[in-house]
Amino acid sequence: MSIDHHAKIFIGLTQPDDRQFDAWSNQPLLLSIEQGGIDWPSSCRNGTCRTCFSKLERGEVRYEIDWPGLSAEEKEEGYVLPCVAYPCTDVVLQREPC
Ligand code: FES
Repeated sequence: MSIDHHAKIFIGLTQPDDRQFDAWSNQPLLLSIEQGGIDWPSSCRNGTCRTCFSKLERGEVRYEIDWPGLSAEEKEEGYVLPCVAYPCTDVVLQREPC
């Protein structure tokens, strides 16, 4: 990771295991989760395979790609793809079965 002095660190929490990680604003959540030593399912890491699919129980994220592999309904219901989602606030992520 390159050092970005404008990056913020939010508090991330994973469920159901209740583990905390540093959620950097300048990198995808999946990377921050892994850097926090937490296992999270992943494969493509570019927002298409949906292996990392999870529910954002709390917080907000943004995407740098136009349309990550989620339907509009899923987005409305709070589902996210952590491999391409960047945190805008503290977040709580619920792991979903594939
Ligand atoms: S790892 Fe493939 S969509 Fe996230």
